[in-house]
Amino acid sequence: MLSGKRILLGVTGSIAAYKAAVLVRLLVKAGADVKVIMTPSAKEFITPLTLSTLSKNPVESDFVKDQSGVWSNHVELGLWADVLMIAPASANTVAKMANGFCDNLLSAVYLSARCPVFFAPAMDLDMLQHQSTQTNINRLVSFGNHLINPEYGELASGLTGTGRMAEPEEIVIQLKSFFSTNLRLKGKKALVTAGPTYEAIDPVRFIGNNSTGKMGFAIAEELARQGAEVNLISGPTHLSLSVPNVTITKITSADDMHREALKHFPASDIAVLSAAVADFKPLTKADQKIKKSTAGLTIELIQNPDIAADLGKMKREDQFIVGFALETENEQAHAEKKIKAKNFDLIVLNSLNDKGAGFGHDTNRITLIDKKLNATKFSLKNKKEVAIDIVNAISEHIHA
Ligand code: C5P
Repeated sequence: MLSGKRILLGVTGSIAAYKAAVLVRLLVKAGADVKVIMTPSAKEFITPLTLSTLSKNPVESDFVKDQSGVWSNHVELGLWADVLMIAPASANTVAKMANGFCDNLLSAVYLSARCPVFFAPAMDLDMLQHQSTQTNINRLVSFGNHLINPEYGELASGLTGTGRMAEPEEIVIQLKSFFSTNLRLKGKKALVTAGPTYEAIDPVRFIGNNSTGKMGFAIAEELARQGAEVNLISGPTHLSLSVPNVTITKITSADDMHREALKHFPASDIAVLSAAVADFKPLTKADQKIKKSTAGLTIELIQNPDIAADLGKMKREDQFIVGFALETENEQAHAEKKIKAKNFDLIVLNSLNDKGAGFGHDTNRITLIDKKLNATKFSLKNKKEVAIDIVNAISEHIHA
């Protein structure tokens, strides 16, 4: 998908600039033609020699090439590119782009480029959360630029939060998805459930699970990339979305998710139920924090509503439901039983016995089983790539 594509990579002054080397390598390996522009401060973090060697092209940085007086033509560079990717995009560069500043080669190329522009912010969490930065990022998105969301994790400052540049592998996936999009789901409405649910015990405690929501978010984004209008109902996660066309409703408990899912389902053509819904909830929620006692504590649990089963009962002929099955034994048999019991059209089976699959991992290994019990096995892949496989299968089934 990236073969022969001309990618102009803008690298700015952020510690994440070191990841630009890996990004260039991955893009070149995927067959892309890569040219790099560095801002003056990017060179404090990584040398032009590294990026020119990996990209097999000279790195541009100044309006005028050293000594020679030859002009680096920013208009030509902007016209050459199929895509301008600014990664990492520092707070300073984001601010300049949002306000039309033009004080270095990269900002001049940004203003003169006619191609789609992607930017992958990288900065400390407080800089990212600052209203100035948020306003600038939102402005850039409103201009039609494509945001590659920063990720949550440990930051160069030692703090933990959202601000790390998306990994190079993730950036490559977003580019591949961009170039492969064929909007097969245009005009379709999709409902996606994702993440865990929290069932309150008292005002400060809950019963939860290890679901991160990554699989569901990736599916919601891929459905949107293929043209669907998506309602994502998510339990508590650290994730954020990087595509338009997804409306997110954040909920806490299974009852909240049940209510929202039932509300949106009648108007949906597709429902993908990837949430790890708690099967049980405490019978009562204590009004006050439960005090420590030596006598121990027994909490009576009652069943939560089964959202998937309820939607399965409501399902019309023209609707398509995808469920998930995370199994530890007799995987295929359990999944086949579930597809019938819950009236799914397709089930995504992942086994906890598979290394790198399921909760908490960035990767997953799935088997897709349809209503006729045809099973298709996939290899271990990044969750974003798994999402592409799942959404492609949905497209194929509803267009069959
Ligand atoms: O029955 P089990 O929990 O294994 O079924 C898994 C499937 O059902 C998943 O698609 C999950 O999102 C959905 N589910 C649900 N509501 C529940 C329990 C599971 O929607 N209360």
